[in-house]
Amino acid sequence: MARPAASFTCTACGAVHRKWAGRCDACGAWNSIVEEAPLSAGPKGPTLKGRSIALSDLSTAEPPPPRIASGLSELDRVLGGGLVPASAILVGGDPGIGKSTLLLQATAAYARRGLSCLYISGEEASAQVRMRAARLGLSDAPVKLAAETSLRDILTTLDAERPGLAIIDSIQTMWLDSVEAAPGSVSQVRAAAHELVTFAKRRGVAVILVGHVTKDGQIAGPRVVEHMVDCVLYFEGERGHQFRILRAVKNRFGPADEIGVFEMTGAGLSEVTNPSALFLSERGAPTAGSAVFAGIEGTRPVLTEIQALVAPSPLGTPRRTVVGLDSGRLSTILAVLEARCGIPFAGLDVFLNVAGGLRVTEPAADVAVAAALLSAREDVAIPPDTVLFGEISLSGALRPVGQTENRLKEASKLGFSRAIAPSRSKTGEHPGITVTEMPDLTAMVGQMFGA
Ligand code: TYD
Ligand code: MG
Repeated sequence: MARPAASFTCTACGAVHRKWAGRCDACGAWNSIVEEAPLSAGPKGPTLKGRSIALSDLSTAEPPPPRIASGLSELDRVLGGGLVPASAILVGGDPGIGKSTLLLQATAAYARRGLSCLYISGEEASAQVRMRAARLGLSDAPVKLAAETSLRDILTTLDAERPGLAIIDSIQTMWLDSVEAAPGSVSQVRAAAHELVTFAKRRGVAVILVGHVTKDGQIAGPRVVEHMVDCVLYFEGERGHQFRILRAVKNRFGPADEIGVFEMTGAGLSEVTNPSALFLSERGAPTAGSAVFAGIEGTRPVLTEIQALVAPSPLGTPRRTVVGLDSGRLSTILAVLEARCGIPFAGLDVFLNVAGGLRVTEPAADVAVAAALLSAREDVAIPPDTVLFGEISLSGALRPVGQTENRLKEASKLGFSRAIAPSRSKTGEHPGITVTEMPDLTAMVGQMFGA
């Protein structure tokens, strides 16, 4: 009998390749492809598992159990209103960003609301977790702790205890004896996640898997299990910055792209219920290169400051450094400014940054980015009471964006009195805020910078 062929899997994105290569075609990561042992074929023959059931038969069944709220409103919103029983959630993020802290706080919150919780750490001893809990003021929360990495033992414990929620910190430390590969390898991480997710569904236990985002190819990243779980959350933030953002990138039970904002303090993570005020709190006196973008993150408006710096470049190829925005989008905006408005950036270094460590993905940020760039280039400050939003098309026209009313409402709430928006925006009535509608970039440049 022919031996099943080995496959080659990318540890960064999980793409499967037929042969080894230095670079993954799917995600572009270097040195991330590893050989995976073939799965041994199980016993063959017909079985009766996987029988079908009519959808209409299901409707007479009991209604699904309600979601469980933790009381940490930022987390509850990202989950779409609360934890869905028997669901599988992946929380990914860079090592040291605060995943264990967040989950320990969340577990304590659920436990205090009567949900039985088991926190399984594969990285720290129970005593260390207890010390962290004491620092966070959570020592009295009725959470059970275990320090274990053998998945067989964990499943036996879970089966015996049947908690409502189990946390696995982290999935990369778990190993199954039936898989001949090192812990952290793609095969182990996949098999462990599969066992846990299957267990969650069958036994009605919600599981949260923690996954470290990895930089090298030796350890599988959380993306290799994204497709198995119901909900994928990423915990992001700049090191050395106290803000942390929990972002839903996939949610079978709620809206994706929702964010929760936290602040890392000496006593753990505290919720930030008004992120706009926080992101704008660092603004000083009006300076050239700063523009306030009225954005939407998930279901809520969030105002952020976009900062640009433009300086003559000593290099043949000027620098384009972007933090918190898509660098491709910056190139497009620079090209449109040059081609449609005759404002070149050749020979100039451009640095672009979103203050506060937020990552802005909305095309609606284009107008604010262009304004920040022009303000930096012309050395003219944008009036501090002005917010901007709108998408820029390749022709230089400004395109209206969704949720204009929400953006304006938030801006007016935070004391802004002027807004620059694309023509044909559905602005509604906004006492206290004057909206100037612009058909295209040239008109905007003329109005704001008199060019
Ligand atoms: P941790 O939750 O261990 O990160 P992860 O599980 O994602 O690897 O967080 C570690 C960082 O958080 C560490 O640099 C210290 C910081 N921290 C605080 O600032 N305050 C706190 O109360 C705690 C518990 C951690
Ligand atoms: Mg940790």
